[in-house]
Amino acid sequence: MAGRIPEPTHRPRERVMLVGAEIFGQDNLLSMDESLDELEMLADTAGLDVVGAATQRLKSPNPKTYIGSGKVEEVQALTEETGADVVLFDDELNPRHQRELEKIFGEKLRVLDRTALILDIFAQHASTHEGALQVELAQYEYLLPRLTRAWTHLARQAGGGGGGSGAGVGLRGPGETQLEVDRRDIRRRIDQLRGDLDKVRAHRGRHRARRKRSRIPVVALVGYTNSGKSTLLNALSSSDVYVADQLFATLDPTTRRVELPGGHQALFSDTVGFIQKLPTTLVAAFRATLEEIAEAELLLHVLDVTHPNVDAQAEAVLETLTEIGADHIPMLTVLNKIDDLPDLDLVDDALELFPGAVPISALRELGMPDLLDALTEKLYEAYTPVEVDLPYKEGALIALFHEQGQIEHIEHTRKGAYIEGRVPGRLVARYRPFQINAEIEEIEEES
Ligand code: GTP
Repeated sequence: MAGRIPEPTHRPRERVMLVGAEIFGQDNLLSMDESLDELEMLADTAGLDVVGAATQRLKSPNPKTYIGSGKVEEVQALTEETGADVVLFDDELNPRHQRELEKIFGEKLRVLDRTALILDIFAQHASTHEGALQVELAQYEYLLPRLTRAWTHLARQAGGGGGGSGAGVGLRGPGETQLEVDRRDIRRRIDQLRGDLDKVRAHRGRHRARRKRSRIPVVALVGYTNSGKSTLLNALSSSDVYVADQLFATLDPTTRRVELPGGHQALFSDTVGFIQKLPTTLVAAFRATLEEIAEAELLLHVLDVTHPNVDAQAEAVLETLTEIGADHIPMLTVLNKIDDLPDLDLVDDALELFPGAVPISALRELGMPDLLDALTEKLYEAYTPVEVDLPYKEGALIALFHEQGQIEHIEHTRKGAYIEGRVPGRLVARYRPFQINAEIEEIEEES
């Protein structure tokens, strides 16, 4: 097997038949039809043309073919009618389903599932070195148990890949021996990728430590895929008003420094888009990145307010945040794309659903001052009031107050600075020795 997953290539758009199943008792965020609409959007993103869809309600997935045998025949007939080359299932097929379906559908029809498709889209969009490594790892982990005779490297070179997962969809090959070689190669590649990722993470960890020392608060943008996170990050950082200093740009192009009102600053970092039924292999591969979200001071949850399933999308994001242990972090929600609403009254409806959210358009840069004010308030509401006398020899603490705190009153005396204001909880201890009230309390305790 060739060492690397092939780069996505531009080839004629394949024709795809979608297959959705509603499993009795399964608690899904979206209805089957809504989920199929989303799958169609994903297919389009991956360069596939949807030519039809088939659905079925099931008590439980058929152990061999996922959908029932009658439905399999119906799907096959539909693909002949519509000239589809790919059958795309709206759920993750287990390796046995995949094998059995490939057997039935034969050489001419490729079998794909939602997971392979999402992995492929991620592979095409991975913009950082670490992202690319993570997706490649997830792809190989997905591929390994599914590797059959049909998925070997000779056939890969003969034209696998395409709109589907670069990790070897639609591959045809010579036989068992080659299969064993392929499995070994994949395992070796997985080990290598894990090693590479460890190195990248160690490097990133050092930078994160440095970033922490800089004590600038971190705001993580989270949101469903396509909600507008990247557009918002650009709007926040590229406009003349919100000066961008791309301090960490070379290492991590998705983190930007943004000036907030009152001379404050925050680092904003973009994160991977969430989606319902996010493949488990992908969550595992991205866990380290996702866990970084858990270290942010504030989450900025970007919602596409024009989307008919905005509430289910928000729910999917909250579920993933809980899964990665980030649900305790304060969150500010924005209702994005208000420019695309047919009627601005709809903003009020959305506000009923998401009280306290800030309506904006990242694309048209509407509502940005309100957003920055809300962000500043949210970032600093957890601040502790302090009243301190700081001698001038503690100049660093005075500067830190200016930089990180909110000064409500300052007086310069002969000996130092008297400051009333608020500082982030993590800095309170450093000001305690100079706190006026604390001194009084101590004197009271002594007497
Ligand atoms: P993922 O990378 O999938 O997580 O997407 P994202 O959340 O980073 O979304 P992105 O910024 O890439 O925007 C997705 C699409 O929405 C793009 O076509 C944007 O141009 C569009 N978009 C973003 N913000 C707005 C907005 O305020 N109004 C309108 N009309 N479109 C927007």
